[in-house]
Formats: sequence, C-alpha cells, structure tokens
Amino acid sequence: MSFYFNQATISQLIQTSPNTVSRTIATLQVEPITSEFNHKKYSVEKTRLITDVLYASNHKPIKKKVHVFYNFKGGTGKTSLCYQAITHLAILGYKVLALDLDPQGHLSNIMGIPEDWNGETIYDVIVNGYPLEDAIKNVFPGVDLLPANISMTRIEVPLSSKTKREEKLKSVLEPLLSHYDFVIIDTNPTISTLNMNALVASDHVNIVCETQPFSLSGLRVLVDQMLSFYGDMGVSPCYCIIPNKYEIKTAIAQEVLGALRAEYGSQVFSAVVRKSEDINASSKKKLPVSAFCKTKAPAFEDVMDLVHELVKISIK
Ligand SMILES: Nc1ncnc2c1ncn2[C@@H]1O[C@H](COP(=O)(O)OP(=O)(O)OP(=O)(O)O)[C@@H](O)[C@H]1O
Ligand SMILES: [Mg+2]
Repeated sequence: MSFYFNQATISQLIQTSPNTVSRTIATLQVEPITSEFNHKKYSVEKTRLITDVLYASNHKPIKKKVHVFYNFKGGTGKTSLCYQAITHLAILGYKVLALDLDPQGHLSNIMGIPEDWNGETIYDVIVNGYPLEDAIKNVFPGVDLLPANISMTRIEVPLSSKTKREEKLKSVLEPLLSHYDFVIIDTNPTISTLNMNALVASDHVNIVCETQPFSLSGLRVLVDQMLSFYGDMGVSPCYCIIPNKYEIKTAIAQEVLGALRAEYGSQVFSAVVRKSEDINASSKKKLPVSAFCKTKAPAFEDVMDLVHELVKISIK
C-alpha cells in the first residue's frame, strides 16, 4: 500500500487554503517525492506531519475518544464507514486504535490482515488475559488494529459467565487510552454480549443507517433497545445516526431522510454518505477513498464531511 497526496488534495482534506499548506510544508521542511511532470507529492507519513500541525493539533482535546459503529442490521455500511473514519482520522494527523469486534473480520481484511490469519483477537484478550498491547498491530501510518477472526464466535459463552460481563472491554482498553486520540470499534450485526461491551466502552455510538423504506422501523427497535440497555446502567448515551447509501435521485430516499431528521432531529449527522461505487471499490482496493478519488467525487466529499463532523462532535 503506497499512495501520495499533492498539496491541493492536502488542502481539501483539511479544508485549509493551499497557501497555508504550502507555507507549512516550507516551515517544516517536509520532503516530497517528485513524480513525472515535476509534481510534488507527499506520502501518508509526510502528510501526517503537515496535517498534525494544521488540523489535529487545532482540533483537540478529544473528549469523546471511543466511537463504536453499530447496528444489529447487517450490511448497512458499518465496516465501510469505520474504515474510512479510521484511515482519514489518521490522515488528518490523529493516532487511532481500531478494534475489529466482528468475527467476520472484514475490517481486518480491508486493513491488510490475511483472511486465514489466526493470531490473537479480543477473545484472547478478554478470556485468556492476553495483553491488548501485544495483540495490536500497526497496519497504516498512525493506525494500530486489534484484528478479528472467526474463532472469536466462541467468546459469548465464557463472557456471559463473567461478573460485570459487559464491562470487560472497557477495563482492558482503559490503560491504552492515553496512547491514542481516537479508538474506533467495528461491531458485528447482532445483539451480543460482545457488542454490549462495545457500547459500554464507547463515549459515542454511531448508528449507520441505510436510507431505505424499511430502515426506519428497524432503527426504532435499535434505538429503543440501546436506550433501555443504557437506562438499566443509569447512563444516558451520546449517539448519532449516519445516513448511508443515500440515492440522491430517488424520491423515496429523500422521504426517508426527511422522516429521519423529523424523528431524530440533531441526532442525525448533517453529513450524508451517498451510494457510490467508490465506497465499494475502496474496500476492494484496500485504499481510503482519498487515495484514488478526485476531490470533487461524491465519496471523497461525503467521507470528509463525515470525518470532520465526527471530529466536531468529539471535541465538544
Ligand atoms: N455508501 C455506499 N455506497 C455504495 N456501497 C456501499 C456504501 N456503503 C457500504 N456499501 C457496500 O455495502 C456492502 C455492505 O457494507 P459493509 O460491509 O460496510 O456493511 P456492514 O454493516 O459492515 O455489514 P455487516 O453487518 O455484515 O458487518 C458492501 O458491499 C459495501 O461496499
Ligand atoms: Mg461489517
């Protein structure tokens, strides 16, 4: 995996003028690689030096650090948006810990872990006391990942016999929190004790919801279940709904989005992720959308709107 950003793209990523980017590059003496036609380009590592100064440092402290992407309906886009959030937060200069809590391991695969990988997962960390810091791997500049694999499906039985069984993830995560700006958790589409652990460990729940006719009734069940779970713990959750796979030209999608905003108001992200082949291609290429899309492409615009809004929520 290697890709490069030019100055114009960096300025789009951080919504700052090309002049400011250019001055910062000169001050920091960041070395480009020079490609054909004498165009200067910067690796992700070098880009992070620039974005750290111009973006991440100005958007701190992060108060809501741990984010879970959640929905017990399958295929809504949790993993796809998780991947975009993780990689782009890193590109913006943040240090990110990604936790793959889905035994399907899709996030791990997109982040470069082979499908037949059989190393330590959250199972070993929670059930066998394996240190979390030894189970994580650096998979992208600024991103460490706790990978997943199918063996994690065994976790429910030992987990359910533990005391404070919903708080295990929170307690293993606690000592590592100070090393990262963000912790982003991908979940599996079920109501499981492992997912309840993800909810307890999180400062903010991002519900990824499709903008299709039947999405609203499923969403009501999900939100009720989540609120009653948190209510039993005496906690009032911070949550938002991310509309995904929005089909801009269909009246029904517009109706669903309108109904979503009418019912959930400011809980709904302003950013809406449109249905786009680039989002699909991004997972297949194992590259964030900004690595290969034009800055005016819907996927680039929507993902960056989403990530900037995520940062805004997190520093509040
Ligand atoms: N905005 C989008 N535009 C086009 N395709 C999308 C978009 N978001 C997600 N997809 C596609 O939808 C499919 C399901 O997405 P994804 O795997 O991210 O969902 P998920 O909620 O993680 O699924 P699961 O519940 O199985 O974990 C994938 O093929 C993905 O590429
Ligand atoms: Mg998934």
